[in-house]
Amino acid sequence: MESTDVQDPAVRPSNAGERDVRAERNGGRPTLEFAGKVPYDAYVHATTLHSLQRTLSGDPGEMSFLMVSQIMELYFKLIRHELFQTQAAVRADDPWSALVPLRRAALHLEGLNAAWQTLSWMTPADFNRFRDLLGEGSGFQSAMYRQVEFLLGLKTASLIRPFRGYEVYDELQAALTGPSLWDDVIALLARAGHDIPADQLDRDFSAEHEPHPAVSAAWVAIYRDNVPGNHLRMLGEALAEVSEQFGDWRYRHLKTVQRTMGAKTGTGGSNGMAWLQRSMSRTVFPELWTSRTEM
Ligand code: HEM
Repeated sequence: MESTDVQDPAVRPSNAGERDVRAERNGGRPTLEFAGKVPYDAYVHATTLHSLQRTLSGDPGEMSFLMVSQIMELYFKLIRHELFQTQAAVRADDPWSALVPLRRAALHLEGLNAAWQTLSWMTPADFNRFRDLLGEGSGFQSAMYRQVEFLLGLKTASLIRPFRGYEVYDELQAALTGPSLWDDVIALLARAGHDIPADQLDRDFSAEHEPHPAVSAAWVAIYRDNVPGNHLRMLGEALAEVSEQFGDWRYRHLKTVQRTMGAKTGTGGSNGMAWLQRSMSRTVFPELWTSRTEM
């Protein structure tokens, strides 16, 4: 599960009364003097965030590559957070409450996907000016992205190997070996009375879930039940949205790769586009899509 930092004690709580007194004292203008740290910085840690853009070249285009990567890393973490919230609600047999973090996850994915646009200026010549300096570095080695994939049910045990000896390893291991959100949803369907075989519920979760006709049949039945308050159908649609948006991220990434380096070998050691295309062929929440043929 997620580790969250305790709130910085430098952020002193306030209330409406205190705010009114301050505004009165300031004559309606914002406060400009603080006894301790600037409260915004104490909360957002903007100074720390802005100290992390360490480019490797003098090329002016590299900054946008580095910062878009960092922005995407933050989004991966935010999406992971929403998926944890969703999992907790699903495990508590509360699909209605799961809709809220799922909606947030879909909106964050939309924001994440929009960030690809800011790299679309980059031609192969632009990228080549600093590409060698990245050495063996590749987004493929993003531990946070890998956790998101695991939570969505795309499991490949070997991909946690680069992180052995790192702090993040335990989190990755937990995400790999624990049930994905899709496994949790399948268990919810079983508890809701759908006929799900036992081997779908009690299994080695570090192996990727294979699409199963019983899960597909459950979704056909859920979608047929066209009554108000069909929370499972609403859950299905919210999950489909997340699956689609995540697919859009992978597609936009692939197009960015094609634009900036064609079919060259990747810095991460793969054969680049061909490897990414194979990776993309795995579907998130597969029976939500296969079941549509039977609906
Ligand atoms: C010019 C822009 C980019 C290019 C040319 C590029 C290229 C590649 C290539 C070739 C791979 C396959 C592994 C390898 O390196 O051999 C890869 C994987 C990956 N990249 Fe990028 N990338 C770009 C931007 C980004 C950005 C901004 C992110 C965000 C953090 C990112 C995240 C990832 C992730 C998560 C994977 C693994 C995908 C998977 O496992 O299916 N990439 N990238």
